[in-house]
Amino acid sequence: MPQRGPSAAPAPGPADRARAASVRGIAEELARMRGPLLPILHAVVAAHGYVHDDDIPVIAEVLNLSRADVLGVVSFYHDFRRTPPAAHRVALCRAEACQARGADATYAAATDRWAGSTEIELGEVFCLGNCALGPAGTLDGALHARLTPERLDTLTAEWDR
Ligand code: FES
Repeated sequence: MPQRGPSAAPAPGPADRARAASVRGIAEELARMRGPLLPILHAVVAAHGYVHDDDIPVIAEVLNLSRADVLGVVSFYHDFRRTPPAAHRVALCRAEACQARGADATYAAATDRWAGSTEIELGEVFCLGNCALGPAGTLDGALHARLTPERLDTLTAEWDR
Protein backbone atom coordinates (compact mmCIF):
# COMPACT_ATOMS: atom_id res chain seq x y z
CA MET A 1 0.00 0.00 0.00
CA PRO A 2 1.46 3.40 -0.91
CA GLN A 3 2.45 5.70 1.95
CA ARG A 4 0.56 8.95 2.21
CA GLY A 5 2.52 12.10 2.95
CA PRO A 6 1.37 14.67 5.49
CA SER A 7 -0.20 16.85 2.79
CA ALA A 8 -2.03 14.03 1.02
CA ALA A 9 -5.82 14.16 0.96
CA PRO A 10 -7.55 11.64 3.20
CA ALA A 11 -8.65 8.42 1.57
CA PRO A 12 -12.26 8.60 0.37
CA GLY A 13 -14.78 7.07 2.73
CA PRO A 14 -17.71 4.82 1.79
CA ALA A 15 -20.06 7.81 1.35
CA ASP A 16 -17.55 9.47 -0.96
CA ARG A 17 -17.16 6.29 -3.01
CA ALA A 18 -20.94 5.85 -3.24
CA ARG A 19 -21.35 9.42 -4.44
CA ALA A 20 -18.55 9.05 -6.98
CA ALA A 21 -20.16 5.85 -8.30
CA SER A 22 -23.52 7.59 -8.55
CA VAL A 23 -22.07 10.60 -10.37
CA ARG A 24 -20.16 8.30 -12.73
CA GLY A 25 -23.36 6.38 -13.43
CA ILE A 26 -25.25 9.58 -14.21
CA ALA A 27 -22.46 10.82 -16.46
CA GLU A 28 -22.11 7.52 -18.31
CA GLU A 29 -25.87 7.26 -18.82
CA LEU A 30 -26.12 10.74 -20.34
CA ALA A 31 -22.72 10.87 -22.07
CA ARG A 32 -24.10 9.83 -25.46
CA MET A 33 -26.50 12.76 -25.57
CA ARG A 34 -25.70 15.68 -27.81
CA GLY A 35 -24.16 18.32 -25.51
CA PRO A 36 -24.21 16.10 -22.44
CA LEU A 37 -22.48 18.30 -19.87
CA LEU A 38 -25.43 20.49 -18.87
CA PRO A 39 -27.87 17.56 -18.58
CA ILE A 40 -25.30 15.67 -16.48
CA LEU A 41 -24.81 18.62 -14.15
CA HIS A 42 -28.56 19.10 -13.79
CA ALA A 43 -28.94 15.40 -13.02
CA VAL A 44 -26.16 15.51 -10.42
CA VAL A 45 -27.83 18.49 -8.70
CA ALA A 46 -31.20 16.71 -8.84
CA ALA A 47 -29.72 13.54 -7.34
CA HIS A 48 -27.31 15.03 -4.79
CA GLY A 49 -28.41 18.63 -4.24
CA TYR A 50 -25.19 20.22 -5.46
CA VAL A 51 -22.01 19.67 -7.47
CA HIS A 52 -19.18 18.70 -5.12
CA ASP A 53 -15.57 19.44 -6.03
CA ASP A 54 -14.94 15.70 -6.28
CA ASP A 55 -17.70 15.31 -8.90
CA ILE A 56 -15.82 17.45 -11.40
CA PRO A 57 -12.93 15.05 -12.20
CA VAL A 58 -15.39 12.15 -12.46
CA ILE A 59 -17.53 13.99 -15.01
CA ALA A 60 -14.46 15.26 -16.85
CA GLU A 61 -13.08 11.73 -17.19
CA VAL A 62 -16.34 10.29 -18.50
CA LEU A 63 -16.72 13.08 -21.08
CA ASN A 64 -13.00 13.19 -21.92
CA LEU A 65 -12.89 16.87 -21.00
CA SER A 66 -10.43 18.74 -18.83
CA ARG A 67 -11.40 19.52 -15.24
CA ALA A 68 -11.15 23.19 -16.17
CA ASP A 69 -13.76 22.70 -18.90
CA VAL A 70 -16.23 21.19 -16.44
CA LEU A 71 -15.44 23.67 -13.67
CA GLY A 72 -15.88 26.56 -16.11
CA VAL A 73 -19.43 25.46 -16.91
CA VAL A 74 -20.28 24.70 -13.27
CA SER A 75 -19.09 28.11 -12.12
CA PHE A 76 -20.77 29.99 -15.00
CA TYR A 77 -24.34 28.93 -14.17
CA HIS A 78 -25.63 29.74 -10.69
CA ASP A 79 -28.11 26.83 -10.93
CA PHE A 80 -25.20 24.47 -10.33
CA ARG A 81 -24.74 25.13 -6.66
CA ARG A 82 -21.43 24.10 -5.07
CA THR A 83 -22.57 23.61 -1.49
CA PRO A 84 -25.31 21.49 0.07
CA PRO A 85 -28.70 23.19 0.01
CA ALA A 86 -30.41 24.38 3.18
CA ALA A 87 -33.37 22.40 4.47
CA HIS A 88 -35.77 24.99 3.01
CA ARG A 89 -35.44 27.49 0.20
CA VAL A 90 -37.34 30.73 -0.30
CA ALA A 91 -36.98 32.68 -3.54
CA LEU A 92 -38.81 36.00 -3.70
CA CYS A 93 -39.43 37.92 -6.88
CA ARG A 94 -37.77 41.35 -6.90
CA ALA A 95 -38.79 42.43 -10.41
CA GLU A 96 -40.83 45.53 -11.20
CA ALA A 97 -44.39 44.17 -11.19
CA CYS A 98 -43.87 42.48 -7.84
CA GLN A 99 -42.12 45.56 -6.46
CA ALA A 100 -45.18 47.60 -7.39
CA ARG A 101 -47.26 45.17 -5.32
CA GLY A 102 -45.13 45.31 -2.18
CA ALA A 103 -42.35 42.80 -2.78
CA ASP A 104 -39.76 45.00 -1.08
CA ALA A 105 -41.60 44.81 2.26
CA THR A 106 -41.91 41.04 1.96
CA TYR A 107 -38.25 40.66 1.10
CA ALA A 108 -37.19 42.94 3.97
CA ALA A 109 -39.29 40.90 6.42
CA ALA A 110 -37.83 37.66 5.09
CA THR A 111 -34.30 39.03 5.38
CA ASP A 112 -34.94 40.10 8.98
CA ARG A 113 -36.34 36.69 9.81
CA TRP A 114 -33.82 34.42 8.11
CA ALA A 115 -30.58 36.36 7.80
CA GLY A 116 -27.83 34.03 8.92
CA SER A 117 -30.08 30.98 9.03
CA THR A 118 -28.43 27.72 8.07
CA GLU A 119 -31.79 25.97 7.72
CA ILE A 120 -33.56 28.44 5.44
CA GLU A 121 -31.94 29.88 2.35
CA LEU A 122 -33.37 33.15 1.01
CA GLY A 123 -32.81 34.16 -2.57
CA GLU A 124 -34.02 36.57 -5.20
CA VAL A 125 -35.60 35.82 -8.55
CA PHE A 126 -36.57 38.26 -11.26
CA CYS A 127 -40.00 37.36 -12.57
CA LEU A 128 -41.69 34.02 -12.16
CA GLY A 129 -44.35 34.78 -14.77
CA ASN A 130 -46.89 35.35 -12.02
CA CYS A 131 -46.82 39.15 -12.14
CA ALA A 132 -50.57 39.74 -11.83
CA LEU A 133 -50.60 37.89 -8.50
CA GLY A 134 -47.46 39.40 -7.01
CA PRO A 135 -45.56 39.58 -4.88
CA ALA A 136 -44.66 36.13 -6.10
CA GLY A 137 -42.13 33.65 -4.82
CA THR A 138 -41.33 30.00 -4.37
CA LEU A 139 -41.17 28.06 -1.13
CA ASP A 140 -39.23 24.85 -1.56
CA GLY A 141 -39.88 25.14 -5.28
CA ALA A 142 -43.66 25.63 -5.07
CA LEU A 143 -45.00 28.86 -6.55
CA HIS A 144 -46.96 31.16 -4.23
CA ALA A 145 -48.79 34.42 -4.93
CA ARG A 146 -49.56 37.56 -2.94
CA LEU A 147 -46.71 36.98 -0.50
CA THR A 148 -47.07 39.55 2.24
CA PRO A 149 -44.82 39.27 5.31
CA GLU A 150 -47.78 37.84 7.25
CA ARG A 151 -48.61 35.28 4.57
CA LEU A 152 -44.95 34.25 4.40
CA ASP A 153 -44.97 33.73 8.17
CA THR A 154 -48.08 31.57 7.92
CA LEU A 155 -46.77 29.47 5.03
CA THR A 156 -43.44 28.80 6.74
CA ALA A 157 -44.63 28.50 10.35
CA GLU A 158 -43.81 24.78 10.41
CA TRP A 159 -40.22 25.37 9.31
CA ASP A 160 -39.09 27.06 12.50
CA ARG A 161 -40.20 24.22 14.77
S1 FES B 1 -42.48 40.50 -11.71
FE1 FES B 1 -42.71 39.06 -10.11
S2 FES B 1 -43.61 37.37 -11.10
FE2 FES B 1 -43.29 38.77 -12.68
